[in-house]
Amino acid sequence: MSDHVSIESVGVVGAGFMGSGIAESSARAGARVLVYEPQQAPLDRSREAISTSVAKAVSKGKLSDDEGNALLARIDWTTDLGALSASTLVIEAVVEDEDVKRELFGRLDAVLGPDALLASNTSSIPIAQLAAATSRPDRVLGLHFFSPVPVMKLVEIVVALDTSDATVARAQAFATAIGKTAVRTKDRSGFIVNMLLVPYLMAAVRMYEEGFASAEDIDVAMQLGAGHPMGPLTLADFIGLDVLYAVCNSLYEEFKRDEYAPPPLMKRMVAAGRLGRKSGRGFYDYSPAAVAARP
Ligand code: CAA
Repeated sequence: MSDHVSIESVGVVGAGFMGSGIAESSARAGARVLVYEPQQAPLDRSREAISTSVAKAVSKGKLSDDEGNALLARIDWTTDLGALSASTLVIEAVVEDEDVKRELFGRLDAVLGPDALLASNTSSIPIAQLAAATSRPDRVLGLHFFSPVPVMKLVEIVVALDTSDATVARAQAFATAIGKTAVRTKDRSGFIVNMLLVPYLMAAVRMYEEGFASAEDIDVAMQLGAGHPMGPLTLADFIGLDVLYAVCNSLYEEFKRDEYAPPPLMKRMVAAGRLGRKSGRGFYDYSPAAVAARP
């Protein structure tokens, strides 16, 4: 276990796919983790998802039984925000809504010890806006993880106007300790990855919308022609079209460049509840029957 991980006691706010992945990766590296949600049901789903993921790692021989049990024993789940008071690094991974995040940052600031770092996993909301809701803007930063968190090796460290050098150094040490490679980026919507990835994904949606090629052919083309692990429409479904739509809008609002504007089809799909893999339908059908019928 690394010294750096042992000094950070990690709080994760938000027990969804990203929050659970961040909790699992941190605990896997030896950190104690407390996951918070106001409701019990998402916490139960998070515990289940992490247990399943750990069981898979054990069955593949990536972890021993004892290591898997120890990993799970390092994670606790709570509906009490006050229980995060002992955390030295809190990572927020709730819905991509600025008002919700600002309110949470204010409450967390009141609960946490003076040296604790407060990070957001936001994809596009200005960190400076979240820092302004706290009394510790020098200890507020972005820590942007990628999905699926246990697999993807990157963390973007988002350095806001008032983030101190000491905060960046601690975040860097934490990222290294949990086995991730950190890159530093300015507090601008989209950071490095989404600023490059989103225009590409939107170009694929426009191509599909205009009937230029089928979804399958667009995806196969980029997988086999450019060596991407997933084609762009499969990746959009994987990220979630509601999440992607919110990121597009943030990018467009920030830069007013056409390449970030979400195509009309995206808006219609989100309105229709076709959110991708998580809702069972996006550019593709994920119902059990459709999945079973695929070649
Ligand atoms: N948790 C833990 N491990 C997982 C996992 C999960 N949710 N999903 C897959 N894995 C592991 C598998 O166990 C497997 O491990 P081994 O090779 O050691 O057996 C490995 O990852 C590969 O998985 P699979 O063989 O099942 O499937 P695959 O080869 O198709 O890989 C993938 C799956 C890793 C998701 C791959 O398709 C991929 O890299 N896709 C692109 C993902 C991507 O671009 N993510 C970034 C999205 S953008 C974002 O997140 C930021 C934002 O702000 C929007």
